[in-house]
Amino acid sequence: MRIRPFHETDRDALRQLFVRAGEGSPTESLWGHPESEAGIYLEPYMDHEPESLFLAEDDGALVGYLTGCLDTAAFLSEEQRIADAIRRHRLVLRRRPAAFFARSALDAAAVALRRDPSAGEIRDPRWPAHLHINIAPEARGTGAADGLMHRWFDRLTATGAPGCHLQTLVENTRAVRFFERMGFTAYGPTPLVPGLRYRGARVHQRTMIRA
Ligand SMILES: CC(C)(COP(=O)(O)OP(=O)(O)OC[C@H]1O[C@@H](n2cnc3c(N)ncnc32)[C@H](O)[C@@H]1OP(=O)(O)O)[C@@H](O)C(=O)NCCC(=O)NCCS
Repeated sequence: MRIRPFHETDRDALRQLFVRAGEGSPTESLWGHPESEAGIYLEPYMDHEPESLFLAEDDGALVGYLTGCLDTAAFLSEEQRIADAIRRHRLVLRRRPAAFFARSALDAAAVALRRDPSAGEIRDPRWPAHLHINIAPEARGTGAADGLMHRWFDRLTATGAPGCHLQTLVENTRAVRFFERMGFTAYGPTPLVPGLRYRGARVHQRTMIRA
């Protein structure tokens, strides 16, 4: 297993990996349209912060990646990236995404009625950096994830970042355990993620931080 930085020539292989790297996990897909989801969670990181993107390679094939961002407040917001993806890919005209948005609107209304906390990005100067990590099924439990994380921690140290946060799902128990092992701790409430379902059930955002 080799951990290395992202190069421009990796773009196509990384796009292919993106489609399958979350397989089986509660964060596998938002609305079943990988191209638009890559526009939110992959392309902006390749375009705007390639030096915070690391790859795990096994026998010449990409099997995992970590997209990092040193300063979340200076990065295009997730809300804006989602809005761009909806417009660019005309998602309201597509069956699965449209069903997601309808469910999402109902969930959000219920959250507002109950005055529950709502899901969303955090922008806190104590933990300005954030990351996303995905390992293809065949490379989970091999140390690829540890390797990517430590490469990211090295970058955080080298750049003097005060802290890092990430957002996963309470229901992604394997990921939460992994992040705890990597020194992250749970932070804040666990709001419902509007629209998203895992095995038919609602899911909840879990924010984690590491100083
Ligand atoms: C979450 C995720 C990144 C965690 O990576 P992982 O490799 O599955 O990490 P795990 O903690 O499950 O496995 C680590 C295992 O590898 C082992 N391991 C660690 N380093 C190793 C090495 N160098 N060689 C061999 N095994 C190693 C550990 O001992 C551990 O085994 P154990 O669970 O029996 O103790 C990965 O499961 C994944 O990408 N899942 C799908 C997408 C996802 O959920 N992403 C996160 C979204 S927020």
